Amino acid sequence: MPFRKDFLWGGAISANQVEGAWDVDGKGMSVADVASYKPNLSVEDYAGHNKVTSDTIQAAIQDKSVKYYPKRRGIDFYHHYKEDIALFAEMGFKALRISIAWTRIFPTGEETEPNLKGINYYTGLFEELKKYNIEPIVTLSHYEMPLNLSLKYNGWVDRKLIDCFVRFAKVCFESFGKYVKYWLTFNEIDSVGRHPFITAGIIPDKFPDGALEEAVCQALHHQYVAAAIATKECRSIIKGSRIGCMLTKLTTYPNTCNPEDVFLSLNSNLGNYVHSDIQILGEYPKLYEVYLKNKGIVIKKEEDDDDILKENTADFLSFSYYMSRTESADTSKEKASGNTIMGVLNPYLPSTEWGWQIDPLGLCISLIELYDRYKVPLMIVENGMGAKDTVEEDGITIHDPYRIKYFKEHIDEMKKAVDLGVDLLGYTSWAPIDSISVSTSQMSKRYGFIYVDQDDEGNGTLKRLKKDSFYWYKKVIDTNGELLEG
Ligand code: BG6
Repeated sequence: MPFRKDFLWGGAISANQVEGAWDVDGKGMSVADVASYKPNLSVEDYAGHNKVTSDTIQAAIQDKSVKYYPKRRGIDFYHHYKEDIALFAEMGFKALRISIAWTRIFPTGEETEPNLKGINYYTGLFEELKKYNIEPIVTLSHYEMPLNLSLKYNGWVDRKLIDCFVRFAKVCFESFGKYVKYWLTFNEIDSVGRHPFITAGIIPDKFPDGALEEAVCQALHHQYVAAAIATKECRSIIKGSRIGCMLTKLTTYPNTCNPEDVFLSLNSNLGNYVHSDIQILGEYPKLYEVYLKNKGIVIKKEEDDDDILKENTADFLSFSYYMSRTESADTSKEKASGNTIMGVLNPYLPSTEWGWQIDPLGLCISLIELYDRYKVPLMIVENGMGAKDTVEEDGITIHDPYRIKYFKEHIDEMKKAVDLGVDLLGYTSWAPIDSISVSTSQMSKRYGFIYVDQDDEGNGTLKRLKKDSFYWYKKVIDTNGELLEG
């Protein structure tokens, strides 16, 4: 039996991709509410959120419709959560990872008193999970910070954001601590560099002439400090709680044994580790400090920041894993798309329809690397495959063998890593129910075991249907990962 008895099998969703109800019950506007869907984009152009500008944001603020702003409507989980949680329970979920929309609790991020309707909504949701003994794993910030904080302060570039976030985090700990033991601070904190707006509220055109990288590093510093203070608060408010950090694991291979390729991939991997080094080991890596110095980047720190980071490291490391990447010094190599990051095409790996290269062994490699480096428990909080699904003529059946294959191969590798000694707390697939894609705002990029009847422009009944993978995942959980055959 490779997996521990209390292994947290389940799924992961985020508020901004499922809840909808963007202007209901006092919710404020978040950075997700201005992300638009553009029909007929090519795979190369899918990283649409990278192209957020001051103008696109202003246009979005004027436009109150939901058709081309799909995260405003999500899958209406806000009104369907009882039905959806019942389906998760039917699959046997032990855990559900969700996030709390900051703007439901503090609509502009600057209020001093929380919005009670927001608190009541999440209380209802946690009560429902409790009914089925599903353990919540809660991310405090998953690409949905208040838009106001972005527009008024340039987001996390301003130190003021630390106070705003800690106020929000404390309210969450005080209000939901009796339901929630597992907390995560920032989803994929490393992604500030790849998409500064949705992760940190930084509008790139406000930082021209090479100033963007310094702004990103400063914002990241504020997030590390905020996460450390939140970690301290969590421990003092909720006895027995466990609070982790969260990384996009971007395992990068050299394209060949050419030392130039090896050097490039080494740098990519070290760049990825900077964030978990700071949050788990409690200090800036020496090589990162030299990198900043060489680039002339000066991070403004307050006197006790380093102590705060050192004294409040995370209890465990959680991460997302979808794909691996490959680096080459040869710039003529064919490119491959990925989770908001490009690489060169790895000829040994198949790709999804969106060009993400499928690499199950890469998950085993990632688990071993992370455990060996940090020696803290790990949690896989996102892993899955975006694909187009077809509903059969009977109107209720969906055959998704590609998804079952993807999960089976990844869970097999996870098993292997656990057999080799990796301490793994749980696995929450992304996403157990179809939702709006972060990078493309499409509905048709489906990840779920549960199908949701809605198209990219919001047409559909929102009816939930069970795919073949629904029954398969139920069996996996029932047998604690023993039975993986489709
Ligand atoms: C992760 C994000 O990076 O990737 C999720 O944390 C996201 O929010 C997932 O949905 C898959 O990406 P996409 O762009 O296919 O939705």
